[in-house]
Amino acid sequence: MINPLRGMKDLAGSDAAKFNYFLDVASSVAKRYGYSYLETPILEDTALFKRSVGESSDIVNKEMYQFTDKGGNDVCMRPEGTAGVVRYFVSNKLDRAGGKYRYYYHGPMFRYERPQKGRLREFHQFGCESFGEASVYEDYMTIELIATIFDRLGIGYTLEINSLGCSECMPGYKESLVSYLESKKELLCEDCNRRIDTNPIRVLDCKVQSCKDELGDAPKITDNLCASCNKDFAKLKELLEQNGIKYSVNKNLVRGLDYYSKTAFEFVSSEIGAQNAIAGGGRYDRLVEFLDGKPTSAVGFAIGIERVMDLITLEDNKKEGYYIGAMDEVALDRVIGVAKELKVFDKAVVEYTPRKLKAHLKAADRVDARYCLVIGENELQNGTLWIKDLVQKQEETITLEELLKRNKQ
Ligand code: HAM
Repeated sequence: MINPLRGMKDLAGSDAAKFNYFLDVASSVAKRYGYSYLETPILEDTALFKRSVGESSDIVNKEMYQFTDKGGNDVCMRPEGTAGVVRYFVSNKLDRAGGKYRYYYHGPMFRYERPQKGRLREFHQFGCESFGEASVYEDYMTIELIATIFDRLGIGYTLEINSLGCSECMPGYKESLVSYLESKKELLCEDCNRRIDTNPIRVLDCKVQSCKDELGDAPKITDNLCASCNKDFAKLKELLEQNGIKYSVNKNLVRGLDYYSKTAFEFVSSEIGAQNAIAGGGRYDRLVEFLDGKPTSAVGFAIGIERVMDLITLEDNKKEGYYIGAMDEVALDRVIGVAKELKVFDKAVVEYTPRKLKAHLKAADRVDARYCLVIGENELQNGTLWIKDLVQKQEETITLEELLKRNKQ
């Protein structure tokens, strides 16, 4: 027997229903905020992720599904969605055209991580990326969009925000952080030691308790922001407060991807265990440039769909649509014709084997149909249909015309 690979899952039954429900809600909210759908390839040039997610990140360092294809190309299954969207933006010269562009996307992402609850090797993200808007109002609007999706799904969360500064204030801060970290070098874990040289701010995010204890009084980026980053961060907080979106500032929130500047945020759930980030994102004003485009402001986020699915409850056994069958062989062609008309406005599942009424009612129940519709010799002669509403427990005999008219209203 061949099973799915470790950290990968089939999606079926009620999980599939939750997955589609999530996508319906999230897509409709994204469209209302002016985003349009974009689909990019799962497989991309490895260089795309090295230059965007960053060579010092764990994702690029340890977790890529990377291989050489039959043509000798170094390719990679995408570990996240932002890089591909930016690649699309640049390869279509939208950076040169100017203006504002907003895209939403969803699909599978691949990271060779150690699987555990909430952490898969193939998982799905829903994300949004906005280009060409430098205003911090767009950062706020991005956060509001995510909050709206979670509110619509009835999901509770806490929101953590931080500012990572810009090319103006970050270099000076990094210098003071590095000299602080050098002084603690012996007390920090191996990963932290490696990061002091490659990406020192990631040290702030280390999960090892002894490192956390050492880093309590490390210099914080939010205390070292330039005037413009400070002003934007203050405005973001003000907008969140004005609009009733609760947040806390986490000065150690640095994110696991290297492309961020200024605003960074994460939505966290207290109900799903250790892997508790359900969405993450921020501003990435330098990334278009890193991928050979004209400097373009950008901000975005991604939601982890599997993690959010654990927080969605769907009504079980929701009866919907029609079950339709014949009592006699002669009525079968009429059943097929009626089902075609019903499918214009609702679900209609057809049973091809003629059966007695009782057997049809049982079968209708089994497929969770709201209505059981049966045609026998009598109905065929009179041009009528026999229908039972399996929720209201009422039955009637009507013509197809009447039924169609009722469903048009
Ligand atoms: P990220 O924080 O790496 O950001 O991933 C976003 C979300 O994907 C996480 O908050 C989590 O819910 C989910 N996720 C990540 N890894 C796994 C995993 N192994 N198993 C299950 N779920 C996972 C990004 O990927 C950025 N591209 C977000 C972004 C978009 N920033 C700007 N625009």
